[in-house]
Amino acid sequence: MGNITFSMIKPDAVTDKHSGAILKMIEEAGFRIKALKMTNLTDERAGQFYEVHKERPFYGELKAVMSKSHIIAMVLEKENAVADFRKLIGATNPANADAGTIRKLFARSLESNAIHGSDSDENARIEASFFFAQTEIY
Ligand code: CMP
Repeated sequence: MGNITFSMIKPDAVTDKHSGAILKMIEEAGFRIKALKMTNLTDERAGQFYEVHKERPFYGELKAVMSKSHIIAMVLEKENAVADFRKLIGATNPANADAGTIRKLFARSLESNAIHGSDSDENARIEASFFFAQTEIY
């Protein structure tokens, strides 16, 4: 698998009915949706996904925000997928995100910043396999 990234539309963005607009932006930016599912994270599963942040002061709130309702998980393909996707979504803190980015348009706050994108090719593969079997990623 090359040129893929993993993304989740976060619960508040789904609740705020931004899923359609976000998916449209992703496709129009040249990404191909390889796999997609709406699902839930429990507090425990959210903790596993974000294990790297477990010592950070925001870990508890991050787990709560990510497990409050449905998420949309997806695997996306494009040349230079990881870096190009992070450009499309904008800075982690929407206050610092460029105009026209997904987080600037749709995030509620730093804690609820609309969407996740992998930060490396290795993490893209790890995160994709957290949600999808290899046979689901065509
Ligand atoms: P995400 O890219 O999904 O990765 C970890 C998440 O932790 C991040 O988006 C933010 O929504 C959340 N978060 C909450 N507080 C902070 C913080 N102070 N610094 C970085 N990330 C934070």
